[in-house]
Amino acid sequence: MQAEATRIAVPSPSGRHLLSGVEPALRGEPQIADSVECRDQFGRAPRYLRISVTGRCNFRCLYCAPESDEPGRPKADALTDGEILRLVGLFVRAGVRKVRFTGGEPLLRHGLPALMKSVQALEGIQEICISTNAYLLEEHLDALVDAGLATVNISCDTMREDRFERITRRQGAARVQSAIAAALAHPQIQRVKINMVVMRGINDDEIPAFAGLCDNPKIDVRFIEFMPTAEVAYLRDMLVPEDEVRARIGTPLVPVALADPSAPARLWSIPGLSGRIGFISTMTHKFCARCDRIRVTADGRIANCLFAESLLDLKALLRSGAADAEILAAVVAYWSGKAAGHRLDDPDFLGRPTMIAVGG
Ligand code: 5AD
Ligand code: SF4
Repeated sequence: MQAEATRIAVPSPSGRHLLSGVEPALRGEPQIADSVECRDQFGRAPRYLRISVTGRCNFRCLYCAPESDEPGRPKADALTDGEILRLVGLFVRAGVRKVRFTGGEPLLRHGLPALMKSVQALEGIQEICISTNAYLLEEHLDALVDAGLATVNISCDTMREDRFERITRRQGAARVQSAIAAALAHPQIQRVKINMVVMRGINDDEIPAFAGLCDNPKIDVRFIEFMPTAEVAYLRDMLVPEDEVRARIGTPLVPVALADPSAPARLWSIPGLSGRIGFISTMTHKFCARCDRIRVTADGRIANCLFAESLLDLKALLRSGAADAEILAAVVAYWSGKAAGHRLDDPDFLGRPTMIAVGG
């Protein structure tokens, strides 16, 4: 990675730097040529890009996807690999250092490991990750590791075969468990994050069993609060608040110091177990104030929030032949309008997205 910068970041006109007074070089930051200042009115900068590389999924989880694709709904026309690489290069100039590949199910995208490898090789990218349902993980694991993957996030809401089909409307429990084991056994994989969406009356009796998975230093088990997005708003009673999940784990939790203050999950450990427990509590412990995430949807729009009510159509801009400077200026302007926080808890809020296209 090249450390030389031909131009230093333009200082923020507002003077509001989250890490003010600390020079990038002192923080071990790569200096990016032609970087631009990108801050919203609260001083937040985009550091972490989540790209949905396909709107398709091989599961139909009841909290995420409609049971079948609606007739007449056009298939998302995804960005090409070349377009994604160009965009990531531009996002790096705006501050992005970490890229997560999501979907739908990202491993359904043909050639994903090669794309990830190219993204990892871009100057300024410090980390690549993937969020997967693990159905196709085992067969791609070596290629993903070769691309530079060290952490894998696996969506897994039940360890019970009979229940798996009820939640995902597909079969595959054994494959998912086998992929988790393979990821844990892989010497290059440092961490496996198991994401469980807790649903009352569906899988909440498995809370202690999931907490017990922490008997492995590579494992983070993260309990996710169900979010009542548009198509599943009628399921809102399924929400099990974090405080209740904690109570049902049944053992006291010890806080773990966080390396990344922007991470949505706050981490805990259980005395005697070497893994970690996290809670992603969008509903009862909003983490919007420290959000540094920017999203690209499966159809090539960017969202400055998972629940953004207006998105910017970057694909149209890219395909109109816009120059880099024009695209970057549009991203900076769009990011500056990032709302203070989501309004999911507001009954009048209508902008709830379909999660499968935005990528969670
Ligand atoms: N509530 C909470 N999490 C969701 N996800 C998708 N839909 C929802 C929802 N309604 C997240 C889950 C899942 C990932 C693919 O997206 O974490 O594991
Ligand atoms: Fe389930 Fe994830 Fe697929 Fe949604 S994208 S249907 S949560 S596996």
